[in-house]
Amino acid sequence: MLVQDVSRGSWNRVTEDVHHALNGEAAAKLRTLVPRQVRREAGSFFTSGGVRQSFEDLLSSHIDSSERLWFWDPTCGAGDLLLAATAHLPLGQSPAETLSLWGRRLRGQDLDDSFVGAARMRLLLTVLQRHRLEDSWAPLTERQQRNSFRHIQVGDGLEALHEAASSKRFYGHLLLNPPYGARTVGRECAWASGKTSQAAIFSSTAIDALKAGGRVVAILPDVLRSGSRYNAWRRRFEAHATVEEIAPYGLFDNHTDVDVFLISAKRKKGGHAGSVQWWPPRLANETSIGDLFHVRVGSVVDNRDPHTGIESPYLTARDLPADGEMPLPARTREFNGAKVTPPFVAIRRTSRPGQGAKGSFRGAGVLVVGNEAVAVDNHLIVASPKDGTIDKCRELIKVLGSQSSAQWLDERIRCRHLTVRVVKELPWPLEDGLF
Ligand SMILES: C[S@@+](CC[C@H](N)C(=O)[O-])C[C@H]1O[C@@H](n2cnc3c(N)ncnc32)[C@H](O)[C@@H]1O
Repeated sequence: MLVQDVSRGSWNRVTEDVHHALNGEAAAKLRTLVPRQVRREAGSFFTSGGVRQSFEDLLSSHIDSSERLWFWDPTCGAGDLLLAATAHLPLGQSPAETLSLWGRRLRGQDLDDSFVGAARMRLLLTVLQRHRLEDSWAPLTERQQRNSFRHIQVGDGLEALHEAASSKRFYGHLLLNPPYGARTVGRECAWASGKTSQAAIFSSTAIDALKAGGRVVAILPDVLRSGSRYNAWRRRFEAHATVEEIAPYGLFDNHTDVDVFLISAKRKKGGHAGSVQWWPPRLANETSIGDLFHVRVGSVVDNRDPHTGIESPYLTARDLPADGEMPLPARTREFNGAKVTPPFVAIRRTSRPGQGAKGSFRGAGVLVVGNEAVAVDNHLIVASPKDGTIDKCRELIKVLGSQSSAQWLDERIRCRHLTVRVVKELPWPLEDGLF
């Protein structure tokens, strides 16, 4: 209806509707029509608002008009990334000419035909709106509308990427915000095994599908940038692509509980090891927590480990105060595995970027004192001082509770779980006289 109105030139009534259709409306409609759980399982969340703006900025800052301006989104949803790309496409003399020009240069797939229909409709509206602003508007026939953007199709984008990788590779810009859910991979995947983020699979295949000089601009879950599980993905990515920019972003949006980062990278000619700063570098001769503490995850997996052995104090995240110091926990448990002798500092593994539990900073630690070994739950990370002193633990609590550590953690690892490796790498500023 909207497309028909503007194709005929009846803009008066619908200018605002067109603006909404081209901005956050698709994402908002998706949220009202499809339950959250179904959206999560299908990995359907559309790029709108702040994250779309950041994507546009990233695309614009690396694109050069001398480059081949062809764009492909293999999981296009309602077309938001392709819409962002159209800002770089020139207009023809008339809407019909632009349709034919852009139609050749924009390519996309999605498994959901209603998304594909919405993407085509929104691209058509963009053509008409741009011509209107340039005063070169002319009506389109129904046939022209129906036949527009035929390369945006219902289909499996991963298959299409594999096909391109094994035949005629794509030379242009691959735009990517793929589904993030996990899928089990087998021997066919050289860099992962077991449950693996689809975003890692899509982005890695996207690099394979590009000709040298082609670019991928992607929004990806932060775990790929900062999680130790994705080390091999990062090594493979940097071996085949020159990374131009990595920008940690934060929560995708207020409705989608995933931290993301944006990346722009160009396909290299061959494959050779690269070195990319995926997170802030550690300075040479900088002391870090791992130099002064033994850091490990608590050993008790409560629903798995049998209640046998010596009854010991049992520390869980639930019983941990927000910060400060505590005596031996009152809760006890029989446990045969490794226990931790106080003094030590306990840190919650799950914490959101920007804030910790119960109002404390993310990564805030609690000093545990007492004269009995403690069974520690595996939702906690434990740091035991190499010098065995309570004073060292108190210093660590200050370090962990500082604004600068919280900031460092947020840049280094935006996904939920703190890891042993990240805690070990956290800089120890005391020697700089900061405390
Ligand atoms: C996170 S959404 C992003 C959509 C769009 N790229 C954007 O940024 O707004 C991921 C999309 O991938 C689609 N999808 C999931 N698996 C796919 C596949 N194998 N091939 C094509 N599309 C797929 C989903 O239907 C969903 O629309």
